[in-house]
Amino acid sequence: MTKKGKRIGILTGGGDCPGLNCAIRGAVIQAAALGYECLGMQEGWKGMLTGEHQVLTPADVAEIVGRGGTILGTSRTNPYKKENGVAAVLETFKKLGLDALIAMGGEDTLGVAVKLYKERKCNVVGVPKTMDNDLSATDFTFGFDTAATLAMEAGERLLDTGRSHRRIMVLEVMGRHAGWVALYTAMGAGADYVCLPERKVDVADMIRWLQEAHAHKKVALVVASEAVDLGESGKEELDEFGHMILKKRGVAERLSELIEGKTGIETRAAVIGHMQRGGPPTLFDRILGTRVGVKAAQLAAEGKFGQMVALRGNEVSGVPLEKATGTLKTVPAEWLALADLVCAGGAGQAKALASR
Ligand code: F6P
Repeated sequence: MTKKGKRIGILTGGGDCPGLNCAIRGAVIQAAALGYECLGMQEGWKGMLTGEHQVLTPADVAEIVGRGGTILGTSRTNPYKKENGVAAVLETFKKLGLDALIAMGGEDTLGVAVKLYKERKCNVVGVPKTMDNDLSATDFTFGFDTAATLAMEAGERLLDTGRSHRRIMVLEVMGRHAGWVALYTAMGAGADYVCLPERKVDVADMIRWLQEAHAHKKVALVVASEAVDLGESGKEELDEFGHMILKKRGVAERLSELIEGKTGIETRAAVIGHMQRGGPPTLFDRILGTRVGVKAAQLAAEGKFGQMVALRGNEVSGVPLEKATGTLKTVPAEWLALADLVCAGGAGQAKALASR
């Protein structure tokens, strides 16, 4: 039996990613075990503006562990960008009798949560979610492992067809302003060059390594993050959180034209795009999603508001939400050096080995 009036709201905001349903499931099952009723707010912060929700019981979440996406729907709605948006969120809190709200999202969704907690004393708990893996204060976010694994497999497939046709292949992956997805994809697939948003592409260096790799293997693979800086500028459309909408940039196409022009080697581009965000989560994301969902319900029941569940080492614990927002976790120098060693350097090493 649920405690009278004890209710926890759950929302999922920002880009969806595999593992969200595991987190919802974990939170609902734990909350129910602690005597709370859960309300699933529809489509991120939008649901807190309109009040639209569905009751979530353990039976409702019994079969969603392996399902991609989010059963609650999502949006990039920012209440701070809507007229009377914050007042509407507070009104929904009151009207539905929510004792706490679990906000599952990335930097943007959790940025709203931290503001509501600090400025309006809202009882919020955060769950870190993003396939970009760019949230500070946590080692990994669920969704990343699935997205990078899928992209790695796509990279391997491109190598197969590229090898047959003696081509250079360019794979564009998501990741917005952080290059984690591109980095892991490139390292995992054995790519010959990786282009990350953390640094401007050194075209001469890239061409040199690709020529080396192609001469040795009759194929070469470049993995490029969607927001890579190719030294061009253009007017980008921004979303409600002020982030570039990258759908029109076509980094892979532009890179492949550049590479073909400079090397004379036939080059093809592929974009994995939103396919990376769908489908069943990997085992890692299922377990991480479940653990952080369960912990979030515990924090909410203990009244530990203004906190986010973080994975540090192999422990999940609460950290101040503020620590997770504000600064993006981008790829640091030691990881860039590792990528250079095994991706760009990989071709050179292969050549050196072959000539022994
Ligand atoms: O933030 C997650 C993410 O998947 C980014 O990697 C990507 O740039 C963006 O979402 C795409 O957003 P949308 O689904 O709105 O096109």
